Amino acid sequence: MANEEENVKRKLAKLFEVALKVTVPSIADVEPLVAACTGKFGDYQCNNAMGLWSKIKGKETEFKGPPAVGQAIMRNLPQSDIIESCSVAGPGFVNVKLSRNWMAQSIQRMLIDGIDMWAPRLPVRRAVVDFSSPNIAKEMHVGHLRSTIIGDTIARMLEFSRVEVLRRNHVGDWGTQFGMLIEFLFENFSNWEDVNEAAIGDLQEFYKESKKRFDSDPDFKERAQKAVVRLQGGEQKYRKAWTQICEISRNEFNRVYQRLGVQLEEKGESFYNPYIPAVLKELTSKNLVEDSQGARVILLEGFNIPLIVVKSDGGYNYASTDLAAIWYRLNEEKAEWMIYVTDVGQQQHFDMVFKAAKRAGWLSTDDNAYPKASHVGFGLVLGDDKKRFRTRSSEVVRLADLLDEAKSRCKTTLIERGKGDEWTEEELEQTAEAIGYGAVKYADLKNNRLTNYTFSFDQMLNDKGNTAVYLLYAHARICSIIRKSGKDIEELKSIGAIVLDHADERALGLHLLQFSEVVEEACTNLLPNVLCEYLYNLSEFFTTFYSNCQVVGSAEETSRLLLCEATATVMRKCFYLLGIVPVYKI
Ligand code: ARG
Repeated sequence: MANEEENVKRKLAKLFEVALKVTVPSIADVEPLVAACTGKFGDYQCNNAMGLWSKIKGKETEFKGPPAVGQAIMRNLPQSDIIESCSVAGPGFVNVKLSRNWMAQSIQRMLIDGIDMWAPRLPVRRAVVDFSSPNIAKEMHVGHLRSTIIGDTIARMLEFSRVEVLRRNHVGDWGTQFGMLIEFLFENFSNWEDVNEAAIGDLQEFYKESKKRFDSDPDFKERAQKAVVRLQGGEQKYRKAWTQICEISRNEFNRVYQRLGVQLEEKGESFYNPYIPAVLKELTSKNLVEDSQGARVILLEGFNIPLIVVKSDGGYNYASTDLAAIWYRLNEEKAEWMIYVTDVGQQQHFDMVFKAAKRAGWLSTDDNAYPKASHVGFGLVLGDDKKRFRTRSSEVVRLADLLDEAKSRCKTTLIERGKGDEWTEEELEQTAEAIGYGAVKYADLKNNRLTNYTFSFDQMLNDKGNTAVYLLYAHARICSIIRKSGKDIEELKSIGAIVLDHADERALGLHLLQFSEVVEEACTNLLPNVLCEYLYNLSEFFTTFYSNCQVVGSAEETSRLLLCEATATVMRKCFYLLGIVPVYKI
């Protein structure tokens, strides 16, 4: 394991913790409130003075008001080489200016030891991220794209923070639609046992055809309904047909995951089926489950509908499956944090399921404690008309088609820029994929996930503004500065030193040092857009630095090349965490 270092915010928080204890010994365990700030007085601020004052005022105290408390906190701050100076402003804010020397050395240590030393530390050992989770025999659409992209980034950020992540694909492989699909398979293929993808062709079409049949022919409908019972009863022939259909779907999904570079481990709804009876028994013994009009339900305070866990026909449903999955994840997989990535439309379902799990005593009732479950909801993908994203023929847009188009548009642009003559076909293909898929991902991740966003190739493939294209170009440009200098950057790392004397060098350095706390925040609040914003600002800080500080040929060349390298290193880690493949030349 690489050397770890606590992030700046934590380091400062520790120092302030000591100062707070000395300042007001009568109040125990005051949590230091330290935040980065962008004023000219400091890089970080401690905001405890006002809160403390309201607790001690009126009592016997040497202080006359919050500014005096702030002054005392500042005086009591232990000596530290990370701080250059402090000041107290307004009603008692304690401003801290970091030491340039220390900042420069930290960045240099990261360059030598690797960026992993800046990995955040989280209070969790193992987490489940339940994402993507499409439904068998139905095509993956843009909604699943969002879940796949957001879930993958969350998993990557947690993994970077040394959390063991179980990447779960909770595919819908156990609904009533399977009776219909199986009967349709039998009807159309006498040799159904040998039927593969090539024979069935498009599974979505197959689904639509069988649905038509189901809706129009009562006999077929009846057979389909019986087929569900026989499948769920475990009858061999039906299980076999089901497995085959799932397998075809799986191959289709896997092709998309491969293109997106996403790893997932499938444990579909069917997996939890055998666990449901015992789980419901436990919930019943805890007096949570009751009868209601032939169904079995859990009534939960704050909700105007019951959570149905056994339907009136005796069958299990989405909720009973999710309750069993929580039980399994906690008890068999020993996960402390369960994260579910779906559209906001499922918010209520998860709120209810989590609440039931809390009442059963499975999850902590304190939302800041573990074990806990979090729903990561996201908004809709809209088309140019601001309505739900559809193709012209008003079909759902297929993921694979989107990726094809993003790639081919990028390739065209690269050829227009003359890269067709300069690069091999392979380089052209790989770069077009990296930029095209990266653009689709970034356009999704950069928004707060709860807002709807408009899908626009023109916007996401623009090389100006907050796009992956712009950021990938910025990274490639930094790489080319280093290449063109003709210097061996590995050698510079060990013999050279970083200095942050120019204001723009210092600003860039400070932003680099904040990488770890930003990832931590993005993990804690499950907000990938926080990391996107950081990355975009990083490239802005770099641009300012590069416009005002000559790199190659200057007296500070070595230090500035090292700053370029540090920027490129942090950018690459951001790309990695966002699931974007970096490019090194443009
Ligand atoms: N298959 C569901 C859908 O497409 C998403 C499943 C989410 N995960 C879960 N544990 N319920 O809407």
